[in-house]
Amino acid sequence: MQKNIILIGFMGTGKSTIGRNLSQTFGYPLIDTDQLIVEQQGRSIPSIFEENSEQAFRDMETELLKSLIKHSGHIIATGGGIIGRPENRQLLRELGYVVWLIAHPAEILKRTSRNANRPLLDNDDPEKTICDLLGVRTPLYRNAAHIGIETDNLSFDEVTTGIIESARYHFGTQE
Ligand code: S3P
Repeated sequence: MQKNIILIGFMGTGKSTIGRNLSQTFGYPLIDTDQLIVEQQGRSIPSIFEENSEQAFRDMETELLKSLIKHSGHIIATGGGIIGRPENRQLLRELGYVVWLIAHPAEILKRTSRNANRPLLDNDDPEKTICDLLGVRTPLYRNAAHIGIETDNLSFDEVTTGIIESARYHFGTQE
């Protein structure tokens, strides 16, 4: 298998955890776009949003995707809003096999309420924000992805296994 496996999906759908699992299973290095931006910037995502803007963060995401285009054999976990720009969706598809992790709003709310590191949900009604954003983003995830996986009733290991099987099939039929 040569190309990358890219995980997309809303906040709290398990991209980073499943990315780590896939990385261990395939022996492929993991690139986590949020984490890389934080390392490059030397500050947190809430700080970038506050001191610059969401737009500035989105520019960083696009630049990062462009810089990854020559990579292969990586697992790439992305931030939940990376699919917003058509340019990014195109770049994601060029990078490899794009897997969309899906969860229902209640599950997302539960998983995201554990930490305050997400500026978009740091408000009085995160549940409404989640539903509104999902309304806008769901067609964009679908448009960017090769496959979508419902994660609500699955363990992280089960999701990982599903991705491994489908990626082998995908790359097998591409060669
Ligand atoms: C965002 C999701 C976050 C992070 C930033 C914006 C979004 O990543 O990139 O807070 O717009 O959905 P996770 O999906 O890893 O939480």
